[in-house]
Amino acid sequence: MTKHIAVMVQEAIEGLQPQPGGRYLDGTLGGGTHTRALLQACAPDGKVLSLDVDRSALARTRELLAPYGARWMCAEENFRHLDRAAEANGLAPLDGILLDLGLSSDELDDPTKGLSFRIDGPLDMRLGPHANDDGLTAADIVNTWTVQDIERVLSVFGEEPFARRIAHGIVDARKSARIIGTLDLVSVITRSVPHIPSHIHPATKAFQALRIAVNDELETLKIAIEAASRVLKPGGRLAIITFHSLEDRIVKRAFAAEPWNAITKKPLAPSEQEVMENPRSRSAKLRVAERM
Ligand SMILES: C[S@@+](CC[C@H](N)C(=O)[O-])C[C@H]1O[C@@H](n2cnc3c(N)ncnc32)[C@H](O)[C@@H]1O
Repeated sequence: MTKHIAVMVQEAIEGLQPQPGGRYLDGTLGGGTHTRALLQACAPDGKVLSLDVDRSALARTRELLAPYGARWMCAEENFRHLDRAAEANGLAPLDGILLDLGLSSDELDDPTKGLSFRIDGPLDMRLGPHANDDGLTAADIVNTWTVQDIERVLSVFGEEPFARRIAHGIVDARKSARIIGTLDLVSVITRSVPHIPSHIHPATKAFQALRIAVNDELETLKIAIEAASRVLKPGGRLAIITFHSLEDRIVKRAFAAEPWNAITKKPLAPSEQEVMENPRSRSAKLRVAERM
């Protein structure tokens, strides 16, 4: 069972306009809610292939999606290879692709992944073994990168105003002992920044930044959009849900150029009701484009 509450499900389906007999790919299976909505919308004979880099997402959704039989396929695969996955599963060319970026609540709460600054765990942060090509972990970054490179990651991927102080704090702390756990890093960050009363935890931005760097999230998104342009039919649609401005900027730029025709001129946001019921949805933005 998943704890993850999927965002903008209705809006994503309306954007993709699934049809009976159509072939769809959900690049971010997670808890399976979007995949199930796609399967229902392309009934009785449409097919959906779902990918996730996190093996436990595949295991978790097997039961939920079993009723759809051979109409549903899944693979442990990075969505940067979505064209290859669609071809390997005999689904290319596709009618629609969905990417709902970031991580699921199940992953955030999984102490073995080290993604949460509230739960002690190893400083890994890879969403799965194929999340990057070089096996890089957050522990590698904080224990071996230069102070300048750590500062750059925190500042570019986290928009962290205290990036320099935190980077120096990390490099000082590692002189006495390797930083191995999430809570070790949290205490280094908390010691490095001025105490400003805020409802945002002081490690929020640094953790986001390290996760983006470890999973190579921005580069992967660019590669996936290119892969989508190769594997979609003319008139096929790509819908992408982003959670921060760095991702949204990449999608906006890509959709402004060939071979895309942006269906959403401005990104769609969740309804007030959805934000009330699921506060995590407040930063979601959905953009949809058609492959010309
Ligand atoms: C926000 S959740 C998706 C939730 C899903 N739409 C649902 O209905 O529950 C994002 C999922 O995408 C996966 N993911 C993130 N980056 C990925 C990548 N590059 N390739 C494949 N899966 C990825 C994560 O492991 C996570 O399970």
